[in-house]
Amino acid sequence: MEEKKTGVILLAAGKGTRMHSRVQKQYMLLNGRPLLYYAAAAFEQSPVQDIILVTGEQEIDVCRRGITEKYGFNKIKRIIPGGAERYHSVYEGLKELQRLGYGKGDYVLIHDGARPLVDGEIIRRVMEDAYRYHACAAGMPSKDTIKQADRNGFAENTPDRRFLWNIQTPQGFSFPLIMEAYEKMMSCEEYQQGVTDDAMVAERMAGCRVKLTEGAYQNMKVTTPEDITVAEALLHSRLS
Ligand code: CTP
Ligand code: MG
Repeated sequence: MEEKKTGVILLAAGKGTRMHSRVQKQYMLLNGRPLLYYAAAAFEQSPVQDIILVTGEQEIDVCRRGITEKYGFNKIKRIIPGGAERYHSVYEGLKELQRLGYGKGDYVLIHDGARPLVDGEIIRRVMEDAYRYHACAAGMPSKDTIKQADRNGFAENTPDRRFLWNIQTPQGFSFPLIMEAYEKMMSCEEYQQGVTDDAMVAERMAGCRVKLTEGAYQNMKVTTPEDITVAEALLHSRLS
């Protein structure tokens, strides 16, 4: 793969409210290591150059000692505080990359720290599609039939499953493209309504075509308590 300057924004500034845990979700131990360790390790071992870790203001120190220093992750160049919504945290990461000199001709991958099962193969596919199409998002075709409901909870229609994808991260972009899209979105509150991922920002603000890149069914997001058991089992089986 052709090498292009590529940074990663690794997100861990969420509150983890759906986990209902004492320890913050990103620092819960999975098979003895913090949840956030796994995604950080995958990117550390990948061809990307720089990682910006975005976490809560109060967790910056814990993160430096418990992740960066403990595991010797040299690519984590900055640990910065995020914002109230996920897109605020992403924007902080983009601005930090800009301060590190990212601009024209460079690329960025944006990843949820809550997806510990990302691996080198997924990262490689997302990097390749980002270089080729300038905007892409990892995902997998939906295994379930998906119905659109009306306001009363009745099925309204059933879109063709062949064209429905469950979207994951990493998502990869040309740096100037996603930076401009984010700047436009941040300039107007109306644009921020209902934004749930970065591909949506590229679609809405830059009118950009986003390539859907093969992720993996196991690249799950750890969200609720039962996800812990599944993620631990998947991480365990990956070792063998
Ligand atoms: N995230 C973030 N900044 C926010 C909100 C979310 O960096 N203001 C990150 C989370 O840390 C996580 C990813 O975005 O890695 C996906 O978010 P989600 O799974 O929803 O995590 P939380 O927002 O922490 O959980 P919840 O929605 O249950 O509170
Ligand atoms: Mg959330």
